[in-house]
Amino acid sequence: MENNRRPESMARITTKELADAFIAEQVAEVRAQVGDKKVLLALSGGVDSSVVAALLVKAIGKQLICVHVNHGLMRKNESENVIEVFKNGLDANLIYIDATDRFLNLLAGVADPEKKRKIIGKEFIEVFADEARKLEGVSFLAQGTIYPDILESFKQAEGKQAVKSHHNVGGLPEDLAEKFELVEPLKLLYKDEVRVVGRALGLPAEMVDRQPFPGPGLGVRCTGAITRDRLHALREADAILREEFDKCGLAKKVWQFFVVVPDLKSVGVKDEGRYEGWPAIIRAVNTKDAMTATIEEIPYYVLHTITNRILTEVEGINRVLYDITPKPTGTIEWE
Ligand code: XMP
Repeated sequence: MENNRRPESMARITTKELADAFIAEQVAEVRAQVGDKKVLLALSGGVDSSVVAALLVKAIGKQLICVHVNHGLMRKNESENVIEVFKNGLDANLIYIDATDRFLNLLAGVADPEKKRKIIGKEFIEVFADEARKLEGVSFLAQGTIYPDILESFKQAEGKQAVKSHHNVGGLPEDLAEKFELVEPLKLLYKDEVRVVGRALGLPAEMVDRQPFPGPGLGVRCTGAITRDRLHALREADAILREEFDKCGLAKKVWQFFVVVPDLKSVGVKDEGRYEGWPAIIRAVNTKDAMTATIEEIPYYVLHTITNRILTEVEGINRVLYDITPKPTGTIEWE
């Protein structure tokens, strides 16, 4: 565990030059560690796994096998972007698994948020493990562990209460956990350093500067029992919010922003007829550590544009609401 401690002498990676030096060092280390063996990586498209993937492609090319599992709860075009950047852009070895039906069938009728989280987490590991068992000659598992994850596990080892459990091979079924040695090239870096390294590796800004996105994805924003039609409406409304935030510059300023579509219908009117629909709820929050959060004051003209677009472009939505609840008392996510 001690080689997981960040040395006090280690300079904070803040510039391209420092990032290039770190990359060169890690490339050499990874090559020495894995030799000519194959390495497996679950590539979600989040910042950490994307930076690990780009670093390992540079170090070992096609010896890296990336597996991208689409659980059907991704934002609009998210999986397509992962394929575009890694398969088409970096020529990475990428296996794409569309597991939408597996997840949505298991989630059908499940309204309890914690049950939903457990189903999504467990199924994710199962889909990944199924794929890992099919592959031959893989000896290593790469992970996007970063220093805050390591600090969290130190705290747990000291018996302090965990805020978040460290996602490591402990989650994998025993036959696989035993089989793999870990490759964790980012384990001594803080998040801001991971972003600097990602930029130095040439990853697109949208990927490196991404806002946090929860593991259960849109599943915790499509409250109650998920249905395909409401999930579709949520995905489309969320894409409009992101597009408009990009246009007016808020995307670069706001820590996390998204749409929630709750399992609730109200009466509305459209084309002179009764139009029952769901509300699209806009959330835009700022925070340092996600423990508390304040609300971003979205200018009225931006709210107006977003509202008009959602109401005219998204089937099934008949109202747009703006959630101005800080944390506490609201959590950032609705579930
Ligand atoms: P809350 O809703 O607790 O969210 O105020 C704090 C931060 O954590 C994210 N979040 C999650 N991330 N799995 C994750 O990986 C989860 O189940 C989960 N729930 C919340 C949330 O998006 C926010 O950034």
